[in-house]
Amino acid sequence: MIDFTEFPVRNKTYAGANGSKLSVIYEGNLYMLKFPAAPSINKGMSYANGCISEYLGCHIFDSVGIPVQETLLGTYTKNGKQKIVVACKDFTAGGLVLQDFASLKNTIIDSAHNGYGTELSDIVRTFEEQTAIDSEILSERFWDMFIVDALIGNWDRHNGNWGFLYNSDTDGIALAPVYDCGSCLYPQADEEIMRSVIQDSAERDLRVFERPLSGIKINGQKINYFRFISSLENQDCNRALRRIVPQIDMNKIIAIVNDTPYVSDLQKEFYVTMLRERKEKILDFSFLKLN
Ligand SMILES: Nc1ncnc2c1ncn2[C@@H]1O[C@H](COP(=O)(O)OP(=O)(O)OP(=O)(O)O)[C@@H](O)[C@H]1O
Ligand SMILES: [Mg+2]
Repeated sequence: MIDFTEFPVRNKTYAGANGSKLSVIYEGNLYMLKFPAAPSINKGMSYANGCISEYLGCHIFDSVGIPVQETLLGTYTKNGKQKIVVACKDFTAGGLVLQDFASLKNTIIDSAHNGYGTELSDIVRTFEEQTAIDSEILSERFWDMFIVDALIGNWDRHNGNWGFLYNSDTDGIALAPVYDCGSCLYPQADEEIMRSVIQDSAERDLRVFERPLSGIKINGQKINYFRFISSLENQDCNRALRRIVPQIDMNKIIAIVNDTPYVSDLQKEFYVTMLRERKEKILDFSFLKLN
């Protein structure tokens, strides 16, 4: 258990709409501390569980072998109030610059849409037309993330939430580790919702088949993970399903949840229940159909 309150604060700042952030030095490395944000929908909660979601989502990405930011959970005390925070190790150390996918999309000069537009056809067109990165590597990362985001129920993989590390001395560019998984695993589920989900299969099915939707859109409509993946209509998505599903080890993932500090037994049971359900009903179902 780490108390980040007394560590030296740096002048590196971070944008993003989902809560306060500070940079601190911990064990010689720069970390971005993410503070819990006020819930946008569930006003009955004082804080959403986004910091726990960030930690779990990132560790699940790591468990399937996708490069991801390193995260730690700890506390931070301000005005006598202790908060649980997630510390994300800054991967731009050494002078690298994070360039998000939105900025790469902006290089497509005859595109009618802006960099932050998440229409799938525009995103895929960017993979083919941009010249900075091998388009296959780019496409594979996008679809691998899409499959893991389906597992963890992430609704916020917008074009600012993935990207590249740029070295301005060499003009070199490479995929950045995955970051910002704070909007996965139902961060606004309170204890009452967790209990009802554990007890009631209709509540679970609602959260497998209908919620959340992806941040990516087709014809202006957010993609439904189950319907899209199980349709098997997108060959790149199918290939990612083939790559990722065999890498998912539910025992590893359950151990990650059970070893998470600051989380109640009820909350752990809720996470394990939803991860199992999403794995079986979205990914395993589609994988079997594909084979
Ligand atoms: N590990 C990291 N190292 C360096 N920079 C990072 C890291 N993680 C995030 N960032 C930068 O900080 C910004 C804010 O972080 P993050 O996306 O996690 O916040 P957020 O408030 O959840 O964002 P959103 O507005 O997408 O909800 C990112 O857009 C990115 O530019
Ligand atoms: Mg973000």
